[in-house]
Amino acid sequence: MLKRVVVTGASSGIGAATVRRFAELGWQTVAVARREDRLRALAAETGAHAIVCDVTDEGQVAAMAREVADTGGATGLVNNAGGALGTESVEASSNDDWRRMFEVNVIGLRTVTAAMLPVLRDAAHGFSAGETASILNLTSTAGHDAYPGGGGYNAAKFAAHAVTSVLRLELAGEPIRVMELAPGLVHTEEFTLNRLRGDAAGAQKPYENVTPLTADDVARVLVGAFEQPPHVNQDLIVLRPVAQSSVFHTHRGPLEAKA
Ligand SMILES: NC(=O)c1ccc[n+]([C@@H]2O[C@H](COP(=O)([O-])OP(=O)(O)OC[C@H]3O[C@@H](n4cnc5c(N)ncnc54)[C@H](OP(=O)(O)O)[C@@H]3O)[C@@H](O)[C@H]2O)c1
Repeated sequence: MLKRVVVTGASSGIGAATVRRFAELGWQTVAVARREDRLRALAAETGAHAIVCDVTDEGQVAAMAREVADTGGATGLVNNAGGALGTESVEASSNDDWRRMFEVNVIGLRTVTAAMLPVLRDAAHGFSAGETASILNLTSTAGHDAYPGGGGYNAAKFAAHAVTSVLRLELAGEPIRVMELAPGLVHTEEFTLNRLRGDAAGAQKPYENVTPLTADDVARVLVGAFEQPPHVNQDLIVLRPVAQSSVFHTHRGPLEAKA
């Protein structure tokens, strides 16, 4: 079976690590994001096919899917592009931030999925019995547990979780598995910095005195879901650092066995 996967949000963090991990395991990769210089560097390093595309722009997404089809097709899609803006309360937050979070985390995910489904089905028409295409959506534990200040990000990731469940029901009977990976605390370079609008000192705080997940940790588990036997669908994978037992409980300091 063709092993070619499209990863959105591939210019940094979890997306870039995911492209690297897929490439290590022999997959062909298509790296999608807005920042061309970063995509080019990743392509030079991994052999990825780079496509510059804003997932919130329907025309660009349609062109991206055409280019994927014209350059060999795909059997996998990782909807990873996303992020958070702000930590204000529901009362104090701005509708513009909420719209931007919905645009990328929910509507962008839907747009890319709708554009890529015909490409995945084209590949599936050539499958031998038992082979399966794969879609995996990166949500978050913020898509399962609300927290104060979560506001628009909680709402968007809860919605992305719902869309994933709906899609799995709608694709029942087709050889396309639909998976969700919901990480907790992951230390990536840009996620919290963007959320806090460039406050570098504030962006370090969530990661102080704790061993968070790395982008590589998430990528290993994510790619592992694609590498499962084709009849296995990991509907929902929740992944947290050991020190984080819930969205409200992060142990700071060394982990020690009780006496
Ligand atoms: N870090 C965490 O703690 C954490 C935890 C749980 C879930 N997540 C989720 O995991 C995913 C990746 O997070 P990360 O930590 O790796 O964040 P990140 O480093 O900020 O990466 C986000 C990626 O999305 C891309 N992107 C953003 N808007 C886009 C758009 N409109 N069109 C195309 N690409 C776009 C960015 O690239 P460009 O700017 O170049 O377009 C970037 O490559 C996100 O969905 C995030 O919500 C993160």
